[in-house]
Amino acid sequence: MTQAETKRVAILLSGGGSNMVKLVESMQGDHPARPCLVLSNDPQAGGLAKARAMGVEVAAVDHRPFKGDRAAFEAALMEVIAPYQPDILCLAGFMRILTEGFVSQWTGRMLNIHPSLLPKYKGLHTHARALEAGDAEAGCTVHEVTPNLDDGPILGQARVPVEPGDTPEVLAARVLTMEHRLYPAVLRRFAAGNREMLNLS
Ligand code: GRF
Repeated sequence: MTQAETKRVAILLSGGGSNMVKLVESMQGDHPARPCLVLSNDPQAGGLAKARAMGVEVAAVDHRPFKGDRAAFEAALMEVIAPYQPDILCLAGFMRILTEGFVSQWTGRMLNIHPSLLPKYKGLHTHARALEAGDAEAGCTVHEVTPNLDDGPILGQARVPVEPGDTPEVLAARVLTMEHRLYPAVLRRFAAGNREMLNLS
């Protein structure tokens, strides 16, 4: 794998970063990508300390001072990201909505993991909504990010059964274990130029 072919991956997160940890751990050996930056909108995000401990460059752009001026926040994000020259952005528990202005600069190069079987349950509270609907199964989706929320081309899905008595928290934990398998598997294929749909269960 020559240096030129290795894809540089920046990971954006807002919280604990369990998906980021799995992505970083996966990018070793003959994997076609390496992490170049972990970036958060929350300077206190637990994922930043985990990334630093794994030897990955970290940065934070606190969204709060921008008081809802999304374009200004995103310009600040781009300023921090640019020097690292990522080929791919992975949103991994990144809880800010990105405008078309930002997303359009990363068309075909930005992934997200969403904790539902899209196109079902775009947005928040996905597990509670699946339980409310009485679904027999739930899961997670890795998709390319487009300007419409949780709406881009699907690259991978993983399914789990819904069990009697499940609470949203219990279901979320079951889905999260599949997220940790699905996202690294999809990123590896995507970095190698393979956009074929991956199904795990
Ligand atoms: C996960 O459920 C993920 O699907 C969602 O954010 C949650 C937390 O992810 N996008 P992490 O533990 O911070 O990676």
